[in-house]
Order: sequence, then C-alpha cells, then structure tokens
Amino acid sequence: MLKKLTDHKKNKKNIKDEIINIDEDNIPKHVAIIMDGNGRWAKKRGLPRIAGHREGMNVIRKVVKRANHIGVEALTLYAFSTENWKRPKNEVDFLMRLPEMFLNKELPKLIDENVVVRLTGSKENLPKHTINAVEKAIEDTKNNDGLILNFALNYGSRSEILQAVKQLYHSLDENKEVIDHITEDDLSKFLMTGDLQDPDLLIRTSGEIRLSNFMLWQLAYAEFWFTDVLWPDFTEDHFNEAIQVYQKRARRYGGV
Ligand code: IPE
Ligand code: IPE
Ligand code: MG
Repeated sequence: MLKKLTDHKKNKKNIKDEIINIDEDNIPKHVAIIMDGNGRWAKKRGLPRIAGHREGMNVIRKVVKRANHIGVEALTLYAFSTENWKRPKNEVDFLMRLPEMFLNKELPKLIDENVVVRLTGSKENLPKHTINAVEKAIEDTKNNDGLILNFALNYGSRSEILQAVKQLYHSLDENKEVIDHITEDDLSKFLMTGDLQDPDLLIRTSGEIRLSNFMLWQLAYAEFWFTDVLWPDFTEDHFNEAIQVYQKRARRYGGV
C-alpha cells in the first residue's frame, strides 16, 4: 500500500511525488545514520572543515522531518564518536557547540512535532554546555510520544559493550552463579541504547564502507545502505531511496 498523504498539513510543500513509492506497511522502525563526509564537502569548496559540519547540521532537520512523516519510530544519528576526540581542538570545540546550535533553533519545532530527544553515549568528557543543551531537549520532549531522535554523541560501541558487561557483572551482587543463565536481552539492557529496538536500516554517507565503532551489537541484523553522497549534500530524496532499497531486501535472519 502506498503512503497516504493525509497528515502533513504543516508541510507547505507538497511532497506527494517525492514519497510516492514508499510502502507504508514496510517502514523500518529504527533507522541509524553515520553522517559522514562533512570535512570533504568543505574541502571541495576550499572552506574550513567546520563549514561542512555547519552545513551538515541543516540536513538533520530535513531528515528528521521526513523520517517523522513516513512513520519511522526511531532515528539514531552518529554525531560524534569516542575516536573523534583525536581531531584538532578547534574542530572538536565546534562539534561540541553543534548540539546547542541545532537545538536552540530546532527544539521548539521538535516539541511541536511530538519528537522525543534521546542521547546514546558517554557524558564523560563532554563540556557542560553540550550536556546542558541535550539534557534540556530530553527534558522538554520527555512527554512526547512520536519519533525518537537519538543522538549518538561521544559514542563508541566497544566501550559501550565493555561497560555493559561490567554493569551486568555488578548487578549480580553475590549471586555470581547466575552468570551461566544470562541472556542476550539481559546484556542488551545495559547497552547505552537501553530499551531502544535494534536498527532495521543503517545508512552511511560519503562512500566509506565501514562501521567506525558504531552499534556493533545492535546492527547484527540491520540492512546496510551506503552512498557516495557527502552528508551536507544528503536530501530527503536520498533518504527515500534508502527506504526504497530497504523495502526490496529479504530479511531472513538466518532462516529461508
Ligand atoms: C562526519 O564528517 C562528521 C563527524 C565525524 C563528526 P567528517 O568530519 O568525518 O567528514 P570527512 O569524513 O572528514 O569528510
Ligand atoms: C564516524 O565517522 C563518526 C561519525 C560520523 C560521527 P568518522 O569520519 O569519524 O569515521 P572514520 O574515521 O572515517 O572511520
Ligand atoms: Mg569522516
């Protein structure tokens, strides 16, 4: 069944033609995106890398809107990895300002559009101003029940799994013999994604075909879609294309 266009009164532009080929009965519930290529986008234009990050921020707005519109339940955006601290200080400082720049502008709209903001990542080493901006957004959207917009910020999957194992171990208290009965779900609960369902679809831009320490556990059965498009050039149409490709995949989970 094709997506019915009934619920976008707020959209000034008629997007009927753009989403016409999306099957509304097979929308990925959770889409995760490795937003890559900001630096190369800027370099191509002779601009500093941070200009690419600024431009990339504007793409987030469009993708959130489209994801919400077609009925995606959760959208995780990889915004800063635990390895990105290796970058020059001025770039890191700018990236740490991006969440508040984005949220200062977008939070009222996100509240209005029933979006729930979440954070997946470690608060350790994040500047106070970054934490404050994200925590305010989480607080202000906590009573919403629409699209979950999950920012993976200061996130690295191996350290996430390691801390989950440690927390799980400590949760056993004196009762260490139950270790033999621990299930995958038990460990999952201690991952930073908590109760968030695993992604159905992973998108990575910029032509890199790797995970870069992103959601190693959670992506076990996700469909992957890679594009050469640099993140600042990514549009709603590219997002649609990813959804369409996803809808043609046969997800077998090891079955037949
Ligand atoms: C992605 O773009 C944004 C972050 C990693 C924060 P990059 O900054 O990695 O851009 P490239 O890969 O250098 O082009
Ligand atoms: C992954 O991109 C991290 C984010 C998009 C936030 P990178 O640009 O840091 O990854 P590598 O270094 O190319 O693997
Ligand atoms: Mg990169």
